[in-house]
Amino acid sequence: MSTARRKEYLAALGLESWVVRAPGGAAPDDAMGLTTRVAPVAGRHATEPTDANREAGYDWTQLRERVAACTRCGLSATRTQTVFGVGNLEAQWLVVGEAPGAEEDRQGEPFVGRAGQLLNSMLRAIGLAREQVYIANVLKCRPPQNRDPLASETNSCLPFLERQIALLKPKIMLVVGRIAAQNLLRTDSSLGRLRQQVHAYGEARVPLVVTYHPAYLLRTPADKRKAWQDLKFAREVAARG
Ligand code: URA
Repeated sequence: MSTARRKEYLAALGLESWVVRAPGGAAPDDAMGLTTRVAPVAGRHATEPTDANREAGYDWTQLRERVAACTRCGLSATRTQTVFGVGNLEAQWLVVGEAPGAEEDRQGEPFVGRAGQLLNSMLRAIGLAREQVYIANVLKCRPPQNRDPLASETNSCLPFLERQIALLKPKIMLVVGRIAAQNLLRTDSSLGRLRQQVHAYGEARVPLVVTYHPAYLLRTPADKRKAWQDLKFAREVAARG
């Protein structure tokens, strides 16, 4: 990607003037360059899927139909439609968010509202087009007023995402936001503690990196700098192969 193009995407993230300073105030590192400062990796944390075999055997079409017909929780009564996931079925990157919002519920596609625009810019900043990745949520239906998902809802819905992960076999998972991270990693740890580490998801031990949710970043632009660190970290983890 050209420097000009990268600058454009970083500008969309509000990061055009940001540079990383080396310890001790030494020469600044170009935040737009490909040099990656990798934060210490605190080791991999293995996590287990909730109910790995519940949807086992379904292919993409069957799984999509199964989701569309789902009435496992009360959200089926309030949704306009289910939001299955979108993207390249050969993608190496899987991005996981929390749940559809109003616009996603209307259009049937994840991350199409304002947060989705920022997510696209975040991906672009590390050289990924939206079409190159696969995007899904923990919940396939919108919680009313975008409230936090209930445990019963995530427990009912997670097997769908687990099957999506098994079918996709991503090289890396980028998990945005506390709720998605806590549910996938089965932890109560804060997002601040979960970021800047490589977690290992499921039996396949898929490398999983956590960062801020784009909706949070829209409300708290000061943390875009930390998100940029996380994106560069994820890019470095993916490059390790
Ligand atoms: N927030 C999410 O977590 N997912 C979406 O699809 C949209 C907003």
